[in-house]
Amino acid sequence: MQPQRDPGGLGLLLLSWSLLLFEAARAGRPAVSCPAACLCASNILSCSKQQLPNVPHSLPSYTALLDLSHNNLSRLRAEWTPTRLIHLQSLLLSHNHLNFISSEAFSPVPNLRYLDLSSNQLRTLDEFLFSELQALEVLLLYNNHIVAVDRCAFDDMAQLQKLYLSQNQISRFPLELVKEGAKLPKLTLLDLSSNKLKNLPLPDLQKLPAWIKNGLYLHNNPLHCDCELYQLFSHWQHRQLSSVTDFQEDLYCVSSKKLLNVFNLSFLNCSEYKERAWEAHLGDTLTIKCDTKQQGMTKVWVTPSNERVLDELANGTVTVSKDGSLHFRQVRVEDGGVYTCHATGDAFNETLSVELKVYNFTLHGHHDTLNTAYTTLVGCILSVVLVLIYLYLTPCRCWCRGVEKPSSHQGDSLSSSMLSTTPNHDPMAGGDKDDGFDRRVAFLEPGGPGQGQNGKLKPGNTLPVPEATGKGQRRMSDPESVSSVFSDTPIVV
Ligand SMILES: *[C@@H]1O[C@H](CO)[C@@H](O)[C@H](O)[C@H]1NC(C)=O
Ligand SMILES: *[C@@H]1O[C@H](CO)[C@@H](O)[C@H](O)[C@H]1NC(C)=O
Ligand SMILES: *[C@@H]1O[C@H](CO)[C@@H](O)[C@H](O)[C@H]1NC(C)=O
Ligand SMILES: *[C@@H]1O[C@H](CO)[C@@H](O)[C@H](O)[C@H]1NC(C)=O
Ligand SMILES: *[C@@H]1O[C@H](CO)[C@@H](O)[C@H](O)[C@H]1NC(C)=O
Ligand SMILES: *[C@@H]1O[C@H](CO)[C@@H](O)[C@H](O)[C@H]1NC(C)=O
Repeated sequence: MQPQRDPGGLGLLLLSWSLLLFEAARAGRPAVSCPAACLCASNILSCSKQQLPNVPHSLPSYTALLDLSHNNLSRLRAEWTPTRLIHLQSLLLSHNHLNFISSEAFSPVPNLRYLDLSSNQLRTLDEFLFSELQALEVLLLYNNHIVAVDRCAFDDMAQLQKLYLSQNQISRFPLELVKEGAKLPKLTLLDLSSNKLKNLPLPDLQKLPAWIKNGLYLHNNPLHCDCELYQLFSHWQHRQLSSVTDFQEDLYCVSSKKLLNVFNLSFLNCSEYKERAWEAHLGDTLTIKCDTKQQGMTKVWVTPSNERVLDELANGTVTVSKDGSLHFRQVRVEDGGVYTCHATGDAFNETLSVELKVYNFTLHGHHDTLNTAYTTLVGCILSVVLVLIYLYLTPCRCWCRGVEKPSSHQGDSLSSSMLSTTPNHDPMAGGDKDDGFDRRVAFLEPGGPGQGQNGKLKPGNTLPVPEATGKGQRRMSDPESVSSVFSDTPIVV
């Protein structure tokens, strides 16, 4: 009665078996209503390679694995299954001709954990297409014709760990999927290889934690060659991140229509990649992450003098915070040296070393207290008063200038005017500007484009910094410089 089975189909079936062993053992009911085209083994329905033009009707509600791969399905409509399949955990739809999936197609299968849509003809992913799949852990979409990933296609997929999008036509890097505080908090693998990516948001990629970068596959894309790209991947290579070490030869870029390996950029005269030390100035507050390749590792820090760093409760100048970061309340010159983080995880252990350089001078005087809530409040009131004075006692021109200032100027001038509010300001930074005007700009600044990460004022960055780090050094006036320098390339394995 059953058609002859193909060993390939059975192989797939076995592959998925482990996921379902438990369910299968529990739900050993007889397959009372096995659809004619399928082979049923308790809650596993294998209907592959049957040239089915449609999903079989009346699927048993206890189905846990449904294999519809290698058929002739072209559309997955909202009503593809009249019964809700709340026990369905794996749905295999690869190697069909799917070019349409209804936005409600996944409503009847809310507990899906594994969805294979690879090797089909999908072109777009509509917004919220997968949003109902809140338990989904693995989503396979490789080898389709996907041109664009809707920014909302993967919203609310709190459990998604692996997303395979390789061998499509994607040309925009979907940064929203990986950015911190992202929609996919558990995503550890995003495969974007063999697509049409030309430009990557390099500074954003640099800032990602290593456990995301480790699974961010970008090989076989026509990336635009430049030294920043080379520096980025060299850092990943140095950290031994799988995404780079496993596909080193396939990581290429395009320069004047020539295909070049990313690591062969000598022709562009890129400076050789070197891990950089963290830099700090006397009295700085500093947090150094132990940026491991795996999430949830146990982290232990060791000082240059080989002592274990204690946690926050101890009152040393350096402590380890709850998330395993090294924290300096006020850096001293003698804190410099190589710190080592020993991370232990389930799968592997990691050891990271970070060199810290401390300059024997402060960056912004010892009037950091200006940052405290109280003085900020006083400053705000003061600035309001000053604004009022400007409004009513000076010609309109000044007021307009003051308002325009934050938007029309980049970090440089704002930071420097901020600096000049500190009484012992550096003459180089402040110049001899009118004090009242500067103060006003300074307090407008936090709301402006150069706002600090915690709403705090950024330390001024306009002081000349010693050329200790060489050519790769980012301009210190970059509004992101504090965080980007720190998250840049400090960790040495
Ligand atoms: C698959 O479906 C298409 C139309 O959707 C049809 O033209 C083709 O003959 C079908 N192939 C098989 C093998 O049934
Ligand atoms: C590096 O690029 C040059 C041309 O710029 C090429 O001749 C050389 O073979 C390349 N080396 C590797 C290892 O790809
Ligand atoms: C690289 O440097 C060499 C000399 O060192 C120079 O002749 C060449 O034009 C430079 N190439 C680029 C792309 O700047
Ligand atoms: C830190 O510890 C020292 C002794 O180890 C003690 O004298 C000092 O009061 C402590 N400081 C704080 C803030 O607890
Ligand atoms: C990691 O280190 C711990 C103790 O430091 C050790 O017990 C464990 O076996 C190590 N794990 C691996 C995978 O090496
Ligand atoms: C730091 O500089 C001060 C003078 O500015 C000097 O007295 C002190 O010895 C220096 N410290 C170190 C560790 O070089």
